[in-house]
Amino acid sequence: TPSPFAAAALDLGDHPDHMAKEIEEQPAVVSSILERVARRAVDGSMWIGLGLPGFHRLAVVACGTSLNAGHVIATALRGIGGVPTDIVVASEADQVVLGPGTLVVAISQSGETADVLRALDRFDDRHPVLALTNNLHSSLARRADAVLDCHAGPEVGVAATKTFTAQVVVGVAAMISAMVASGRIGTARAAALVAELSELPARVEHAAPVAADRIPLLVANVRKASGFLFLGRGQGLAYAAEGALKLKELSYRWAEAYPAGELKHGPLALVDEGTPVVVVDHGEHRMQANIAEVRARGGFVITIGGEGSDIPALAGRATGGLTWGASTAPWGPLEAVVPLQMLARELALQLGCDVDKPRNLAKSVTVE
Ligand code: G6P
Repeated sequence: TPSPFAAAALDLGDHPDHMAKEIEEQPAVVSSILERVARRAVDGSMWIGLGLPGFHRLAVVACGTSLNAGHVIATALRGIGGVPTDIVVASEADQVVLGPGTLVVAISQSGETADVLRALDRFDDRHPVLALTNNLHSSLARRADAVLDCHAGPEVGVAATKTFTAQVVVGVAAMISAMVASGRIGTARAAALVAELSELPARVEHAAPVAADRIPLLVANVRKASGFLFLGRGQGLAYAAEGALKLKELSYRWAEAYPAGELKHGPLALVDEGTPVVVVDHGEHRMQANIAEVRARGGFVITIGGEGSDIPALAGRATGGLTWGASTAPWGPLEAVVPLQMLARELALQLGCDVDKPRNLAKSVTVE
């Protein structure tokens, strides 16, 4: 019998679909995670409680949306503690050799993804495995040396939304904690980072209504397009990748994410009158030149975040009107994921797709 919690998850309330409900739940999910872990991230006890040895390198192993969350966590760890990181696509794990002192962080919402479990079999037993999952009873949780619960609550929509955000917040908090425990950062720096993470629910709450207002019209302009480019730079790149993945999963349109600097090395040839280009702009100054390159070819640019953007994602620093400050957090513009999810959902709805059950996809993929 399903738990009462699961039953509550199935109740749509006033929401038109599970995806809408799960997108909207994200500020509350983040707040509840931080209530549980904020103090323990700052004093290092979140990490110490896991009982894992210290590490000199981190290897993230995951698939799909969880892989994008892994990118964010790895980027944050590099920024906070200067720790080198590897990103391993789980199905390609046999191509990877892990160096000594590597901690493996296996990320999977379901904890049942066969590619992730098989990747762990291919690694040397000497590397400790930390699982980051939304299912504490999963095969991954049993297999790992230590487990972090994402605390996202049941996610019904096949395309992951709130579990992505939860994975990032729990993963980043754990890495902050590990850096305190290893003496790489002090508690004052950790407290400042956790305080910045704690601003997230308010930023999302602030940005979401503006996004909800503007997205339908933006999407109406591009809904006939056959393909979409997503651009990001630095810490924004993983969010561009996640935005492109959501759009593919839900709308069945081609979407590719590129580091914006790569635009001129090939993808610019795709840009023509009306080609939609979604830009995750977190204040990286070189992005303006990339936007100008696209506009000069007639591309339809949708900017998310940044000064005067179409969809402001970086709330909380408004100086009047809709101008927003740059995001300098080591985990990048996490709040941008919410408008990206909304954009993919709106396009899918305008194209008549089922946003909760995209064709050909499953919530848990137990084959390699
Ligand atoms: C499938 C889903 C993706 C998901 C991936 C990883 O491919 O279609 O949306 O991101 O599995 O799932 P996991 O449960 O390991 O996070």
